[in-house]
Amino acid sequence: MKIAILGHGTVGRGVDEIITNRLEEVEVARILELPDRLTDERMTSDYSQIVGDPSIDLVVECMGGLEPAHTFIMDALAAGKSVVTSNKAVVAAYFEEFARQARTSGASLLIEASVGGGIPWIASIEKARRIDEVISFYGIMNGTTNYIVDAMVKEGADFEDVLRRAQELGYAERDPSADIDGIDVKNKTIISASVAFDVACTSDFPVTGIRTLTKADLDALRKLGRGVKLLGRGVMEKGSYAVAVEPVAVPLDSLEANVPSNFNLVTFDATTVGELKFYGQGAGMLPTGNAMVQDVLDFAAGRRPSYDFSSDLAYDPTLLTSDYVF
Ligand code: HSE
Repeated sequence: MKIAILGHGTVGRGVDEIITNRLEEVEVARILELPDRLTDERMTSDYSQIVGDPSIDLVVECMGGLEPAHTFIMDALAAGKSVVTSNKAVVAAYFEEFARQARTSGASLLIEASVGGGIPWIASIEKARRIDEVISFYGIMNGTTNYIVDAMVKEGADFEDVLRRAQELGYAERDPSADIDGIDVKNKTIISASVAFDVACTSDFPVTGIRTLTKADLDALRKLGRGVKLLGRGVMEKGSYAVAVEPVAVPLDSLEANVPSNFNLVTFDATTVGELKFYGQGAGMLPTGNAMVQDVLDFAAGRRPSYDFSSDLAYDPTLLTSDYVF
């Protein structure tokens, strides 16, 4: 199978490295990059050479951001090429449009890497839904904010100092407000709810980040036996659903309170399987690259996820109170 990678930044390089070093059945035939970064013969800055190439079955989008990622994904799907993406911002914003185009063209959209990096989260929800209803989910979905809060708690460090360190280590997004203000978790929560509840998830729900957390807050909560984690959450009950993103006070002996550094821990609860937890690296070149390559191999093996968001759940924010999880 021949594929193209759009963007040879951290994640694109991870996908390229894993496929080139570990797989014989997949060839990275083309790579889209900016004109001043064309460093090997597979690279082009002309997308028409990829989208117009009938030998390329699938496009792996690792560019991030809304445009031109949105246009390139739509063009690929319209040309009947399936798309693997790690881009949570573009999936959260255009999930319905992509899914409709994919159905129309007989192509597939595979989004495992958009939530939880290397954790098999989307595929596990989809697998659960073959038998069960997914009733709720919650989790630590952003490594940068987890790293910051963890360091504030463990080292008594100041928010601004730890943010600077997270940026130096390359955890934080280019614009750290996407992490700090909960926008990254919001996007991952929208995607998780859309898949878990089969609903065109609203983007109009409460989002609170960690910018206003102080050492004094954390010290006071610690004395009450609580830590703080930024959680994305969703619940479905009696024909309604709700989602939220906010810092939640968690018991110090909970698994969530003990998730270190830039790791993620995500949980869903489903009818017969009960609660399942998934822990791992939620970001980074190789974990995220791994999730994308898993999607490529699943596609090669015939997996064709299709999303039609056909449930008629109403949005009811009263389902999620701040003590819902713990
Ligand atoms: N900035 C994100 C995080 C990257 O810190 O988790 C992975 O989506």
